[in-house]
Amino acid sequence: MAQLWGGRFVGETDKTAYDFNASIGFDKRLFQEDIEGSIAHVTMLARQGILTAGERDAILGGLEKIREDITAGKLEIDHTCEDIHSFVEAHLIGLIGDIGKKLHTGRSRNDQVALDMRLYTRKRVLGTDALLKELLRVLLAVMEENIATCMPGFTHLQKAQPITLAHHYGAYFEMFKRDRQRMTDIYNRMNYCPLGAGALAGTTYPLDRAYTASLLGFAGPTLNSMDSVSDRDYLIEFLSALSTVMMHLSRFCEEIIIWNSNEYQFVEIDDAYSTGSSIMPQKKNPDIAELVRGKTGRVYGALLALLTTMKGIPLAYNKDMQEDKELSFDAMDTADNCLVLFTGMLRTMKFRRERMESSAMKGFTNATDAADYLVGKGVPFRDAHGIVGRLVLYCVEKDTSIEKLSLNELQSVSEYFQEDIYDAVSLKTCVEKRLTLGAPGPDAMRAVMEIHRAYLAGDSRESG
Ligand code: ARG
Repeated sequence: MAQLWGGRFVGETDKTAYDFNASIGFDKRLFQEDIEGSIAHVTMLARQGILTAGERDAILGGLEKIREDITAGKLEIDHTCEDIHSFVEAHLIGLIGDIGKKLHTGRSRNDQVALDMRLYTRKRVLGTDALLKELLRVLLAVMEENIATCMPGFTHLQKAQPITLAHHYGAYFEMFKRDRQRMTDIYNRMNYCPLGAGALAGTTYPLDRAYTASLLGFAGPTLNSMDSVSDRDYLIEFLSALSTVMMHLSRFCEEIIIWNSNEYQFVEIDDAYSTGSSIMPQKKNPDIAELVRGKTGRVYGALLALLTTMKGIPLAYNKDMQEDKELSFDAMDTADNCLVLFTGMLRTMKFRRERMESSAMKGFTNATDAADYLVGKGVPFRDAHGIVGRLVLYCVEKDTSIEKLSLNELQSVSEYFQEDIYDAVSLKTCVEKRLTLGAPGPDAMRAVMEIHRAYLAGDSRESG
């Protein structure tokens, strides 16, 4: 067991304590970032005259070799070192000898791990953002084809007013678009480089922190060394944003599960994204949607766990912070996998438009329009509401619907009903007349979708 800090110790670490303390099992996935950070650090040390050009080149050569060997599978990241930082340093020294021992000049594992985790998270934020963008593309493609596909809109899971499938998907477009905006915010806020903070109080070497920050693509260096090594806000923000993504996915999954049920039959999930039952041959279950809904709790759990871990930690670095990794990695992997699967499921899902449309006609979804019709004839809205309420009651008793009543029946409830009521409460009219910006009427939808198209093409980031 190669340890970086053996000098002060006489006794061996207890084996169980060593394993308990070690992070190599999970921080090995930071090897790219660890090497990238070391390359920038050494480049800066030489530029500042802290290392010679020869020392720099030897170290850079060694680091590149380690990176290549790990990537090619020639060097296995085993558990002989306690963490990825020790592993890379030990192998560097093994490869190039004593010069390798100069790598850690003016640096601590505290600012090193802070840097590695930031570099890694920054990459993952962009990855999630790209997956969200792909999902938005699929949503918009479905919207383009379903601007006239009527379906019931619900409140309290009771049929409320007719909408279109494009409009329903449009609601999720807004949610996932906001999720992308959160990714951008997080990226911009976290994009500062902690390297050079040392263990907690900076260093006495003349480091050029702005230079390392620019080499690593950061907007600049962080401004307080204690905060630099103990800040995990960016992870909490990312886990929170991922929790919101999962919440959106979960709501959508819940709807798909309902739409896929025998009672609704609005959609048919592709065989590729459903599974069967071991006993009931007729079953085709929406397991993927259920699993995405289920995994949401796991991502929330990571957020809560990290918030709780961080809440009692005095400045600056404490080992508790090592706990940020496993749960963050798990949440990032889970959310990304869910996005990939969900997008695939959505892309292949078929709609049963006739069922959606006939469902939209039932359940008095045109009751508001009947009331609005009366308002158009001069009846105050409150009275119109009462009249249509009585009409609905009459229909319920007769097991029929408003548009099926004869003009005589309608006029027995209110003399204001005329022949033109039938057109006013038809499904087509109910949807087409909803033309306020953001409503399902086709002209309103077309205007919004134009904004979406421009946004996805990159012409506009925030509009709409
Ligand atoms: N494995 C540690 C972590 O993930 C690296 C930092 C170690 N620093 C220290 N002072 N022990 O947080």
